[in-house]
Amino acid sequence: MNLILLGPPGAGKGTQAKMLIDAYGIPQISTGDMLREAVKNQTELGMEAKKYMDSGQLVPDEVVIGLAKDRIAQPDCDKGFMLDGFPRTVPQAEALDKVLDGMDKKIDHVISIEVPNSELLGRLTGRRTCKACGQGFHVMFDPPKQEGVCDKCGGELYQRDDDNETTVGNRLKVYEDQTAPLIDYYTNKGLLRPIDGVGSIEDIQTRIKAVLG
Ligand code: AP5
Repeated sequence: MNLILLGPPGAGKGTQAKMLIDAYGIPQISTGDMLREAVKNQTELGMEAKKYMDSGQLVPDEVVIGLAKDRIAQPDCDKGFMLDGFPRTVPQAEALDKVLDGMDKKIDHVISIEVPNSELLGRLTGRRTCKACGQGFHVMFDPPKQEGVCDKCGGELYQRDDDNETTVGNRLKVYEDQTAPLIDYYTNKGLLRPIDGVGSIEDIQTRIKAVLG
């Protein structure tokens, strides 16, 4: 099964994707995680991407399309994959269609997680992520057992550079302008599966599984 997780920053795409990995035995492909890894390793691509990420802008299409294309071609994606945070513009979606056509693959469902803007700021500014394994937490809605320590691997939790109020504001605007048009794009293809993203993390997982079967 090949999935896309679509939704504004903080909608819960990463949180839900991590839970779906085990349930469906398919890998999560997060372009955001791949870019943050490149920033951490101070690669040329990472240094270039950081400028956009720190201001809440999108990294140029050709960069992320290349990253996603190479990742989908890996053998662990043969039985399916979950795209988290890609595509994010109509040109990215069109490029993805071409890449998948060439591989004789197709997207089965686009899970569109809907959360009102009023809820997103609090989710993002309270997010904490494990430096070692990438597990996400929230200081109020999903706190770790011990403050600053990952429940899963004992790693150190950190706050993302782009989770401050100013950058979150830019990211939400960029989402409305450049990513929200994908809702129509995938509705027209009959692939959009809207999910109410307000409620407990477990309830939302149940709603997604009800759609995927
Ligand atoms: P990326 O890392 O993809 O960030 P994003 O799309 O802004 O999404 P987030 O990771 O912020 O949110 P999420 O929906 O995964 O929420 P999460 O599950 O963590 O991208 C970062 C940057 O990289 C971009 O700004 C851009 O510069 C660049 N980039 C990446 N991909 C790109 C692309 N394709 N093209 C161009 N540029 C690209 O949840 C958030 C918090 O809420 C957590 O603390 C969680 O615990 C909590 N939470 C989750 N669910 C619930 C719930 N139901 N109730 C209460 N709290 C909840």
